[in-house]
Amino acid sequence: MGSSDRYAIDDVAFVGRTVGEYEAMFDLDLSSWAGEPVLDCPGGACAFVAGANARGLDAVGADLLYDVPPDELRAKCRRDVDTAIAGFDGVEDQFVWEFYDGVPDVRDHWTTAYRQFAADYADHYDTDRYVQAQLPDLPFDDDSFSLVLSAHLLFLYVDKLDHEFHEASLLELARVAREEVRVYPLARFDGKRYPRLDELRATLADAGYATEVRPVSFEFLREAPEMLVVEVSSGAF
Ligand SMILES: C[S@@+](CC[C@H](N)C(=O)[O-])C[C@H]1O[C@@H](n2cnc3c(N)ncnc32)[C@H](O)[C@@H]1O
Repeated sequence: MGSSDRYAIDDVAFVGRTVGEYEAMFDLDLSSWAGEPVLDCPGGACAFVAGANARGLDAVGADLLYDVPPDELRAKCRRDVDTAIAGFDGVEDQFVWEFYDGVPDVRDHWTTAYRQFAADYADHYDTDRYVQAQLPDLPFDDDSFSLVLSAHLLFLYVDKLDHEFHEASLLELARVAREEVRVYPLARFDGKRYPRLDELRATLADAGYATEVRPVSFEFLREAPEMLVVEVSSGAF
């Protein structure tokens, strides 16, 4: 199979997941973070911030596009879900169909997510809940968030984002966290694990952070049912 047959989209898609997808991919028990400040970066069109706040967390989203007005961003969500879903055509067998029943189920999840996101973003985009930010620089103080989540940017878009970007971004996510950073997935779109993960873990270790590659139950990209956990608080694993 040639590279043009791979699941591919022209740009980094502004799509998002439901709270249930995040709970599975980050092995997350939301109740154990109640009352805690939590960052989702990049938040994209995720329902996580809306849903987590509704369940008592103090959740904040940061994304490159959180300076786009709500109506415009909602229209982009709709277009990008269509584009991302079209990307599955002919390559469905590269994915594991356990969490989702099939491509229409993926569309249902991502549509539910962006609608919840868009409603919450319209209500809160001019507050501190949704913050425009561009990794590898975040506009937050050190140790601002108990937990930092980062999905579907690092490791996935290796064709667009170089190793130095990954290194600087992971150190930045760790800087603003005071307990843990969780990153999912660790694989590229072709299902192969990011090739220089060990080097990144060594860089994090040099900076004083223990890391663990932890299996998770959410498997969609083949060979990628695992997340990277960066332990920020003292007393590592
Ligand atoms: C595929 S979405 C992932 C969203 C969400 N985390 C999820 O798992 O569904 C990728 C997001 O990364 C954002 N993005 C791209 N480059 C970024 C950067 N340098 N800093 C912050 N966000 C960025 C895009 O705007 C987009 O919302």
